[in-house]
Amino acid sequence: QCYQALGSRGAQVEVHPIIDSTNSELMRRIAAKQTLDSGTVIVAEMQQAGRGRRGRVWQSPFGANLYYSYFWRLDDGLQAAMGMSIAVGLAVYDTLKALYQLDIELKWPNDIYLNKEKLAGVLVELDGQPQGPCQLVIGIGINLQMPESFSQQIDQAWTDLNQHCEQIDKNQLVAHLTYHLELRLAQYSQTGLHDMYQQWNLLNAFAGQCVELNTGHRSWRGICEGIDANGGIRIRQDGEVKSYYGGEISLRKA
Ligand code: BTN
Repeated sequence: QCYQALGSRGAQVEVHPIIDSTNSELMRRIAAKQTLDSGTVIVAEMQQAGRGRRGRVWQSPFGANLYYSYFWRLDDGLQAAMGMSIAVGLAVYDTLKALYQLDIELKWPNDIYLNKEKLAGVLVELDGQPQGPCQLVIGIGINLQMPESFSQQIDQAWTDLNQHCEQIDKNQLVAHLTYHLELRLAQYSQTGLHDMYQQWNLLNAFAGQCVELNTGHRSWRGICEGIDANGGIRIRQDGEVKSYYGGEISLRKA
């Protein structure tokens, strides 16, 4: 199968019928110090050990969904990575808007929701130092046509593209995703989140709602006020707004 990337640079796209995880494959190559070009893409028809954020399993049945990983080298060190997650969420938004006119919402840092149901997820993994160059693997899973038999194994409300649009062409989706990812990463390299964080805030699925932020060690409850210019989530608690840079948020009753 041939995936042709849009744009002038032309990404290298490797297609695997079956793999453990497209992210793991790129991380292995980084660990083995293989030469990788920024813009290398790996997609698979099925993942035997698909991974989600926080050690979760990402259900990856054959042919049903998009399993996509993109390699990128960043010169600004790991500190820049949080902001980059925000840029990736916006690239998925751009892609689904351009191809299918979908109005998705984003859950910090980069879950993709449609009508309050999860449509796609992003797992960014890093290798490098706090300062200096680092290497990033941006993994994106988009539900296209999830088989009924897998639905019980997903522990949250989910949806797939098949329920919202007529024609889904995986080649076209890969090409557009790569194109929009490269545009957003280039924008991020030039101006950080300066022109992006307000746009993200317009798409915030939890805007003004009561949320709990859980870091694994502690949790905070408050009103979700969107993100700051560095990509941290702003939570209002007892009249004071604070930004947090790690963990996961979930909706809570006020
Ligand atoms: C999440 O929402 O928890 C993130 C899910 C990320 C899934 C994608 S599918 C392609 C890539 N390979 C993986 O093993 N995970 C990511």
